[in-house]
Amino acid sequence: MSLKESYQFCFKMGVAIPRQVLKDEPVLRHIAQEYDSITCENDMKPENLLDAEANRKEPERYDRSPAVTFEKIDPYMEYAKKNGIGMRGHTLVWHNQTPRWFFAKDYRNEEDAPLADRETMLARMESYIRTVMTYVQQKWPGVIYAWDVVNEAVVEEGLRESFWIGTVGQDFVLQAFRFARKYSDGSAALFYNDYDTFLPWKREAIYDLILRPLLEEGLVDGMGMQTHLTMETDLDEYEKSLRYYGALPLQVQITELDNHNTDLSEESMERLAQRYESLFDRLVKARKDKAADLTGVTFWGLQDDMSWLTAFRKERSYPLLFDGQLKPKKAYYAVLGAAEK
Ligand code: GLA
Repeated sequence: MSLKESYQFCFKMGVAIPRQVLKDEPVLRHIAQEYDSITCENDMKPENLLDAEANRKEPERYDRSPAVTFEKIDPYMEYAKKNGIGMRGHTLVWHNQTPRWFFAKDYRNEEDAPLADRETMLARMESYIRTVMTYVQQKWPGVIYAWDVVNEAVVEEGLRESFWIGTVGQDFVLQAFRFARKYSDGSAALFYNDYDTFLPWKREAIYDLILRPLLEEGLVDGMGMQTHLTMETDLDEYEKSLRYYGALPLQVQITELDNHNTDLSEESMERLAQRYESLFDRLVKARKDKAADLTGVTFWGLQDDMSWLTAFRKERSYPLLFDGQLKPKKAYYAVLGAAEK
């Protein structure tokens, strides 16, 4: 049985994929067999949807309604539709992978160009969210079942300093969700997504700063726990967080699962498998206990040699379920095993 078949009773099984995969037939067959959800690793982020050329060429025309181009995402949407695979829309509003010129007056490209004012940025935000959501709802109905409306807004000091804060201000998260709710046809759940969501201080901050105000206005449907783990991440604390978010009137999704691991030895791969097994035991149990409405688990990468972690951590990582040849590792069988208990 595949991952998606094993977990059909519980939640969707997903994977984030890069563009190069779309040209690789055997890999596409593998994905359709193992998963019932995909996420664009990069192509649905603002830097890939915003039409740099058009906006910068005619800044007056596009000042309050930024030009957007969909050629990069259509192939993913088509593949998903054809194969009955759902998709997570990742991500509408984020401080990262969003070009600086998007926040600048007249879309100017110089590093020190003055920022646009609040009214302009609110108009750009609304227009961007409306354009992207409307496009996928009309052209690819039924494919996207979850949107990461805002990604990674919380840091230790509170809300992260960013161009969103610097232009719109402290209420940018609320505004983004209002627009997303306004333009959603109801076919996709609206998520707040973040990393380190298992840390005690962070889950409290996310609730206070983000989820509580959004819940008060009925604007959020789900909490996305990215779940970039290391071999040291405390899974008991993780489970506490899962149940903490699960106790709110929200779905929970694991949106970017991997487990950094630099040691390729058999013992280490065995330990990795045990960690995945322990994690999935907890996920299944939370679902069975009705402690969390867990509706999806997405791996951040197909196979070890495609993982972002090697570049990010500056050391080779073997964090996923499949090796560089797409051969299932022990971790794969451990995840399957957890579904059968
Ligand atoms: C964050 C983002 C993802 C991705 C990873 C690293 O978790 O949400 O889109 O960029 O970082 O690849």
